[in-house]
Amino acid sequence: MSANKITVVGAGHVGATCAQRLAERELAREVVLIDIVEGIPQGKGLDQWESAPIEGFDSHVTGANDYEAAADSDIFIVTAGIARKPGMSRDDLLKTNAGIVESVSKEIARVAPDSIVIMVSNPLDVMAYVAMQTTGFPRERVIGMAGVLDTARYRSFIALELGVSVEDIQALVLGGHGDTMVPLVSYTTISGIPLTQFIGPERIEALLERTRKGGAEIVGHLKTGSAYYAPSAAAVQMAEAIVKDKRRILPCAAYLEGEYGHEGIFLGVPCQLGEGGLQRIIEVELTESEAEALASSAKAVRDSIGALGTGRHLRAEGPSTPRRV
Ligand code: NAI
Ligand code: 2OP
Repeated sequence: MSANKITVVGAGHVGATCAQRLAERELAREVVLIDIVEGIPQGKGLDQWESAPIEGFDSHVTGANDYEAAADSDIFIVTAGIARKPGMSRDDLLKTNAGIVESVSKEIARVAPDSIVIMVSNPLDVMAYVAMQTTGFPRERVIGMAGVLDTARYRSFIALELGVSVEDIQALVLGGHGDTMVPLVSYTTISGIPLTQFIGPERIEALLERTRKGGAEIVGHLKTGSAYYAPSAAAVQMAEAIVKDKRRILPCAAYLEGEYGHEGIFLGVPCQLGEGGLQRIIEVELTESEAEALASSAKAVRDSIGALGTGRHLRAEGPSTPRRV
């Protein structure tokens, strides 16, 4: 199973790596890279296509500056924007990237009104909101990538700590993509065995802290940009779940309409992804402290939407009565 066309907007570190991963997995007949900088998407697209005979894929990768090349795409992965620099919070990116995502979203709605948007640009939860507001797409077709990445980081740190395979670690990181993210210890297992049976609270807390600061740790090393190998892998895993209708349950940023007691914002929650995009949101039971942490995370996202200024509110309302938390 593969899509006809997947377009990646932003041919920078994350975007170009997404395109390469999409093509190498043959997830679409055509992979299109779009960027505002002339020559970059064309050059990277051609370079990737020239790797096809060696890697053995037939997905045709091309690059362009205009959106006609993206017409009728099934999926857009949006990575356009500026990346975080050392000392810069994700929210520092807010207004610049909101303007970029708004202009990109208008083009998406124009050339591919039935497409599905996977948002990557930061601050993630707010950019997903801007994309939904601007495209007018239903929530099934605008999904944010953060939880898959944050959970992968958490799983990778647990694997190192315990000396076990990453494949055997099941975990969920919910909430906003930022310092308020909510790794769920109560749902962290190693082949079904709770993490708490392997290590004590202090070591667990250190893993949680490293996960919360996972993005900043990479920025600290790179100094001139932020992570892109794991982020691109995460976005492409979401695209694959949709294209192949795998009905995978992955933590993604979804627009909440009362789930977990919140509405009118994007927040990381367990989502089923398959044909059509977001198929359902799964409401898991949370401990009191996890529910409180999720509420703080929701407040941080809501505040960021507020910081965008007036006229940008879809329905950024306060928390409603919790359903099952
Ligand atoms: P980058 O700087 O390497 O690439 C961004 C690209 O966007 C550049 O090539 C730039 O020319 C392009 N661009 C800027 N304005 C544009 C427009 N109007 N239309 C089309 N292209 C435009 O940055 P990188 O490392 O690829 O990161 C991209 C974004 O993804 C950043 O906002 C970053 O913070 C975010 N990110 C989010 C993650 C997540 O977990 N959600 C993880 C990693 C990065
Ligand atoms: C990350 O978590 C920068 O949000 C990006 O790596």
